[in-house]
Amino acid sequence: MKKPFFWGVANSAFQVEGSPAESDWKKWTRETGKIKDSSNADIACDFWNRFEEDFDLAQKIGCTAFRISIAWDRIQPTPSTWDEKALDHYEKIIISMRKRGLEPWVTLHHFVLPEWLAKEGGLLAKDFVQHFISYSEKVVRRLSKSPATVKYWMTFNEPNVLARGGYLVAEWPPGFRDRMDLAVESLAQMAEAHIRSVTALSDLNVLFGVAHHVRPLHGKGFNPLNSALAWMLDSIFNRHFIDSLGGNIYFWAPGVKSIKRKIPNAKPLDFLGINYYGRLLVSASIKPPFFNITEGPGEKTDLGWEIFPEGLFELTKKLYRRYKIPIIITENGLADQNDSKRSKFIQDHIFQIERARKADIPIEGYFHWSLTDNFEWAEGLSSRFGLIGIDYAKDLKRFARPSLAQ
Ligand code: FCB
Repeated sequence: MKKPFFWGVANSAFQVEGSPAESDWKKWTRETGKIKDSSNADIACDFWNRFEEDFDLAQKIGCTAFRISIAWDRIQPTPSTWDEKALDHYEKIIISMRKRGLEPWVTLHHFVLPEWLAKEGGLLAKDFVQHFISYSEKVVRRLSKSPATVKYWMTFNEPNVLARGGYLVAEWPPGFRDRMDLAVESLAQMAEAHIRSVTALSDLNVLFGVAHHVRPLHGKGFNPLNSALAWMLDSIFNRHFIDSLGGNIYFWAPGVKSIKRKIPNAKPLDFLGINYYGRLLVSASIKPPFFNITEGPGEKTDLGWEIFPEGLFELTKKLYRRYKIPIIITENGLADQNDSKRSKFIQDHIFQIERARKADIPIEGYFHWSLTDNFEWAEGLSSRFGLIGIDYAKDLKRFARPSLAQ
């Protein structure tokens, strides 16, 4: 039988739900002044209460799948308590998706940590791996059985982006700058947590992947030094994490001690989720860290990210050659308040997916980021990623953007 192709939209708990529990991100939005428009996610899209309305919209626009994430901070408010009511609520959310013919795809960790765990050291906490295993056992065992029956799980969303935001550029909690040593340590922790939790759940009939952020990293101009640097960064940013999930955890980066951990009985990934937003250019610099990373010359989104659809073909081809597992585009989208680029953006990226599929690269789904506008981390509420807009001033009214009709 031919496998179905999943057409979906993606969101994440903190960015849409509103009424957040105590987490590192809730604290960050309130206390650091680091959110560009000074907004927070206290209300966001109120998805926690309005999910049915959003699933109706997703169904109406032709989706067959919907990617959400679970808020760890809601499920485990303290190290020794579980909030069964929060789990009941997620069960309701999933049943409501199923009713509308939307296949649920669920991420366990999408950037946010419970506040108690952040206090223990967050990703670097001594017991982080153990805590993640307990949390994922709790959630996956409950929601993979009837009546929710979630089959497709992602342990982590974009570990590389999280490590950058939290340990290299001080834009996200825990707010470190230039700590490559901590960044690689956090990646090793997430890799180990993934491997061990998937092993702990291997008796279940479910599939596990990750949602991995990848970017083509090209050397600027025809300069061999730039190309060599681009190769190095490509390996650190795009490949180390996925390579490590095979059980031989290995992270290296210039100027820091490399990390090696061997974890027995690693199960191979069932699928590779790819979040794709565009390309980056790399050039040598005389100042540490001796390279610059910039956007390419092409057309830009509202956030200044270069629109580069052909990179999706380039990357999926490379990644499939290396990992030989089905690929799902777990995120792709753009901030475009005027809605003048969205329609072409989507068509051009889907064209590249078609191209890859014709070249026998098994891409099995596409999730657009996002169904609605939402809270875009350090950018706040003002960037507009939604196929459907949200009028934050008018009771969060959902309105279709013109591109939706094209
Ligand atoms: C990705 C994140 C997602 C969203 C999009 C725009 O890096 O996974 O939460 O913020 O970018």
